[in-house]
Order: sequence, then structure tokens, then C-alpha cells
Amino acid sequence: MGDSGDLKLIDDSGKRLDGRKLDELRPIKIEANVLRRADGSAYLEWGGNKILAAVYGPREAHPRHLQDPTKAIVQCRYNMAAFSVMDRKRPGPDRRSVEISKILSEALAYVVFTEQFPRTSIDVFIEVLQADAGTRCSGLTAASVALADAGIPMKDLIVSCAFGKVGGKVVLDLYKEEDNLGEADVPIAVVPRTEEIVLLQMDGHLTVEELNHGLTMTMDACKYIYGLQRDALKNRYSTGMDNEENPKEASK
Ligand code: CDP
Repeated sequence: MGDSGDLKLIDDSGKRLDGRKLDELRPIKIEANVLRRADGSAYLEWGGNKILAAVYGPREAHPRHLQDPTKAIVQCRYNMAAFSVMDRKRPGPDRRSVEISKILSEALAYVVFTEQFPRTSIDVFIEVLQADAGTRCSGLTAASVALADAGIPMKDLIVSCAFGKVGGKVVLDLYKEEDNLGEADVPIAVVPRTEEIVLLQMDGHLTVEELNHGLTMTMDACKYIYGLQRDALKNRYSTGMDNEENPKEASK
């Protein structure tokens, strides 16, 4: 969060610098089952974000001391490619990616029926190929499609989206400039069917009224994105797909 100085992030007609309305999402495209060697996968483009998610498992957890005799563990690794941001990112985990990996693992573990797979690990890899703010939300949204694609039993998909405050207004789905120069950034993740919140972080300052307004706006957006996730899964598994198009069928 920073100071936008003289730059007006909302113009006189109430539009944002990228032309969006306050409650408008960036364009989102989701494709399920894009990798042949993973048990489940998804590719997602969300504005300037490009994200690949791959899932392996449930498989025996290693090292063995990680095993839980009562349930599976969900281990998510969020990684930003060196070329994903303006200044080359140093490869490998850093404090930020370790923290994001932890909170995304916990959000995903909430919807997976982990007790059905004791002693196993479900490994989720999120690779950020291009970043433009909101990568944890995009990554989580893609990861939940990849989990469903892997056939892992879940209560529901998880959908994630951020809202924030820029130029004094509560807005949906910040892009990079708004993230840098705005007054607040609040990524959330929800279980759309039950409207439960499984992740909520806040950077910046908001009134209770602004927070409530932002949450309502983001919950509505998440329900829309939920439709895109389900369409991505339906498209991949609907009949009439030829084998070359469907890696899982082709490898049989
Ligand atoms: O991506 P997300 O909004 O979940 O996380 P953030 O920590 O709020 O980062 C916002 C944006 O800053 C990222 O999406 C990247 O575009 C950028 N960033 C960067 O340029 N270099 C980093 N090492 C980390 C983030």
C-alpha cells in the first residue's frame, strides 16, 4: 500500500485507470487438465496473471514423520517464476512464498475430505508465470480446479478474490498499480456453497462499513468465478472430446 500522490486512480466518471467499474473483475479464463503427468492440473489467466496449478496424490507422505494416521496432509507450494515480475525474482522460497504456501494449504485442506486418505500427502504446486497482483487469489482458484481435476473428494471448490480501497473507493480485484498505490488490499477465499470464509488478510485501513461492503461485493464475484471453475471442469469432461484433445484419455 502506498501513496498515489497526484495520480488519480479513479477518474471523474468513476472508472478506474484500466477502464473498469468499481465492482468489475478483470477478464478470467480457466482451463482444467492441461498437464499430462500430474494427477490434476489447471491453467488460469486473470488479468495480467498467468498461473499453472498441478496436483499429485493422495500419495504416501514422505518423510514418514509427516504422516498423519487420521488424515491426509495438504501441502501447497506457491512459487513465483524468476521472470514473472518486473524485477527478476530470485528463484526459490522466500518469506512471502512460504507464508502464502501455508495459508493456501490451510484453505484447501478445509474443503478436501482428508480423513478418507490417512497417512498420505496431497501435493499442490502453484507456479506463477506472470504476476499482476492477486496471485495468491488466482493461485488458489486454479489449485482448487486442479484438485477437482485430480478427482480428489471435496466438499466444494474454493474461490478466491481480493477487494481493496483506491482513491477513497472500495473496489474489486486490484491490479498492480492499485495494489501498489491504493489504501487497502483484502484477499479473501470462500466456499461458495456455504458462503464460509476460509482466508481473509488485510493490508491497509478500512472502516467496518467499507469492509462489509467489500466482503459482499467479493462474495458475489466469487460466485461468478465459481461458475467459470465449474465450466472449465465440465468442458474438460463433457462427451465428444477426441482423445488427442484429452491427455488422460490418450494415455490409457
Ligand atoms: O500477488 P498477491 O497480490 O497475492 O501478493 P502481494 O504480495 O500483494 O503482491 C502483489 C504483486 O506485487 C504481485 O502480484 C506481483 O505483481 C508483485 N510482486 C513483485 O513484483 N515482486 C515480488 N517479489 C512479489 C510481488
